Order: sequence, then structure tokens, then C-alpha cells
Amino acid sequence: MKDVPPLREETLDPADWEPLRALASRIVADAVDYTRDVRERPVWRDMPPDTRARFQTPAPRNGRPLAEVYDDLVTHMLPYPMGNTHPRFWMWYMGAGNFTGALGDFLAAILGSNLGGGDHAAAEIDKQVVGWLKEMLGYPSQASGTLVSGGSMANLIGLTVARNQMAGIDMRELGVGALRTPMRFYGSDQMHSCHQIAVEAMGLGNRALRRVPTDAACRMNVAALRMMVAEDRSAGLGPAC
Ligand SMILES: Cc1ncc(COP(=O)(O)O)c(C=O)c1O
Repeated sequence: MKDVPPLREETLDPADWEPLRALASRIVADAVDYTRDVRERPVWRDMPPDTRARFQTPAPRNGRPLAEVYDDLVTHMLPYPMGNTHPRFWMWYMGAGNFTGALGDFLAAILGSNLGGGDHAAAEIDKQVVGWLKEMLGYPSQASGTLVSGGSMANLIGLTVARNQMAGIDMRELGVGALRTPMRFYGSDQMHSCHQIAVEAMGLGNRALRRVPTDAACRMNVAALRMMVAEDRSAGLGPAC
């Protein structure tokens, strides 16, 4: 019988953890300075053409030392942020994040948890935070919830729940093709584009979402909303939410 060669373990671990520890410490120290000194930098600056060109190269075939990749990020990426972490960023509503949150993100990635199930602490934290939100918003204890990536996903899920609940058919089983009455949703004419994206993704189409006019203070005109709902009912459509 021929000798079977010993199995060589494949790993993504570094050959030596110590240089990685040193680099990681440097990255954290740099990140503290970067966050602390945000006010000393411009909100935004244009990328020089040479820098921009670096992001348009073919996919690399070979790996590079991590320290070299990090140096590239320091030189070619960190000086050119969107600007939303700067206190003088007034372009758009956008979260600024903070250093504590960044450390939390790092540790969440270290743990690499899947929150779809299992008996583990991260899943318990997830449930605990949903419970806290229910408590703050006055929801009943039997209400359910889930943490998602942001506003677009939250609205897509919320509108999908409303659609399924108000469809008058078993929507999850039969799908939108079985709807007897076209559904209608209502939002202010100031609402975010994610609502339109949601109704499109839900198979209802943009027309299912009516835009209610607002006044100079951006408040929805409730009389106009009532009229739209009545108009839709008399046209045989199904106001949902
Ligand atoms: C009012 C509003 N709703 C929803 C969204 C979409 O949120 P996200 O980017 O978290 O999906 C935004 C994003 O800018 C927003 O401004």
C-alpha cells in the first residue's frame, strides 16, 4: 500500500500572529487620531486623478502583505471620505457613527455571529434590544421585531407586513397575482425614495403609493389624505396603510 501523504491544513490564519497584533494596534491608534482630529480636516476633498485611477485596476491575482494594503488605505482612501462624520457635513441626513459604535462593529465581526438562530449570546442581545425598543415604543410584549441594516430594509419589511395583513388573501401563499383588489398605500409627498422602491419590490408598482400633499411646514394635509382614501375606495381599490 502506498503511503498517504499527510493532510496539510488549509488556514486563513496568519503564519505569525505577532506582526498582526502590532499592525492592529497601529490601526486602532490611527483610527482614534483620525476620529479625534476630524475637525482639522476639510469635510470633503476631491480625489486626484492618480488616486481615482487606483480604483479602476483589474482584479488582483496575488495577495499582498496586510501592512502594505493598510498603507495604501491610509494614503489613498482615508483622506477622501464622504464627509458625513464631520460636524460641518450639511449635505444630507446621514448617520455620523462614533468610535464606540466602530469598536462594537469590530467585535461583532470578530464574533462573526449568525443571528438566524442558535443558542448564543449575540442572539440573546439581538432579542434584548428588540425588547427594549418594544418597551420604549409602547408595543405589547407579544409583538415581534428584528434588527435590520437601515431605513430601506425597515420600510420594506414594515410595508410587506402591512401588505400581507391587508391583502384580504393569503398573500404569502398565493402572491400578488391573486389580489382581487389593487392595493393603495399613502405617504407624504416628502417621503424618502425607499418607500417607492419598497412598493416596486413588493410587486405592487409605484402607482400603489399615493403622495399626499404637505404644507409649508412639511405636515401632511390630512383632509387631502381623507379625500384620496375615499376616492380610491369608490374606484374599487383597497386602501391598505
Ligand atoms: C428619511 C429616510 N428614510 C430612509 C432612508 C434610507 O435609509 P437607509 O440608507 O438606512 O436604507 C433614508 C436615507 O437617507 C432617509 O433619509
